[in-house]
Amino acid sequence: LTNVTEAKAIKVPTLPDAQTVTSVTHWTDRLFSFRVTRPASLRFRSGEFVMIGLMGDPHPETGKVKPLLRAYSIASPSWDEELEFYSIKVQDGPLTSKLQHIRPGDEIILRPKPVGTLVHDALLPGKRLWFFATGTGFAPFASLLREPQTYEDYDEIVITHTCREAGELTYGAELIESLKADELLNEVIGDGFWKKIKYYPTTTREESAKKGRITDLMRSGEAFADLEVPALSPDTDRAMICGNLAFNLELKEMLEGYGLVEGANSNPQHYVVEKAFLD
Ligand code: A2P
Repeated sequence: LTNVTEAKAIKVPTLPDAQTVTSVTHWTDRLFSFRVTRPASLRFRSGEFVMIGLMGDPHPETGKVKPLLRAYSIASPSWDEELEFYSIKVQDGPLTSKLQHIRPGDEIILRPKPVGTLVHDALLPGKRLWFFATGTGFAPFASLLREPQTYEDYDEIVITHTCREAGELTYGAELIESLKADELLNEVIGDGFWKKIKYYPTTTREESAKKGRITDLMRSGEAFADLEVPALSPDTDRAMICGNLAFNLELKEMLEGYGLVEGANSNPQHYVVEKAFLD
């Protein structure tokens, strides 16, 4: 009996809610994505976020370690057998200064309680769905773009992504390109891929195919002309916003100006907003 107790006592403690990293991709010196195992019991709606992180450093006096957690949008769709995340690397960021060094086989903490407002349930039916992202705000849309319901519910999806530099667009651009090769999604997207999916990447601090903030390009009408769609209307358009704070506020005001009303899980309306992860 003594032996049994001892065996239990010396069992190597593992992280609470640990999941194993399966792959890591570095996109730029400021951005990376990674995939982890998915707990069998975890159900979520595409577009939701969870708390993930690592154990922090030991407290200098007590030696106690606490988990260091942040809210991360799940970038993979609800049907995927793994979970994907898209993250910024902040050199003095409490979490991402460490998280950027993870490798396949390492463990991270994942609290399996998904929540969020960037979900289909928070929007009324419509014809055209807009995804407005800056930087890592693309993550929830990486999930929703791989969710068949997105194409079943809407005739057209418009994805705008504003970043400082062109390299920061690669994750999103490759993801959208990969949709074409996805058999499951192709069945629902059907013919005319680029008619149904309109991708509008822009950069603000480096030359690219389209320079400027999406907000300015909408105000001038240039974005609508380029996309060959009318300005947003509450009769036809639905929108999800995920970017930095200033962007979210500015775009919210613009959408309200077009007559769209903010929705929530408990009160579906025309648009929803969430902050992109910044650390
Ligand atoms: P800008 O370079 O003109 O500031 P960040 O990396 O700072 O989060 O910004 C990501 C992108 O969002 C940048 O291209 C930035 O443009 C843009 N941005 C920042 N604030 C706003 C805003 N209020 N409206 C539109 N775009 C914005």
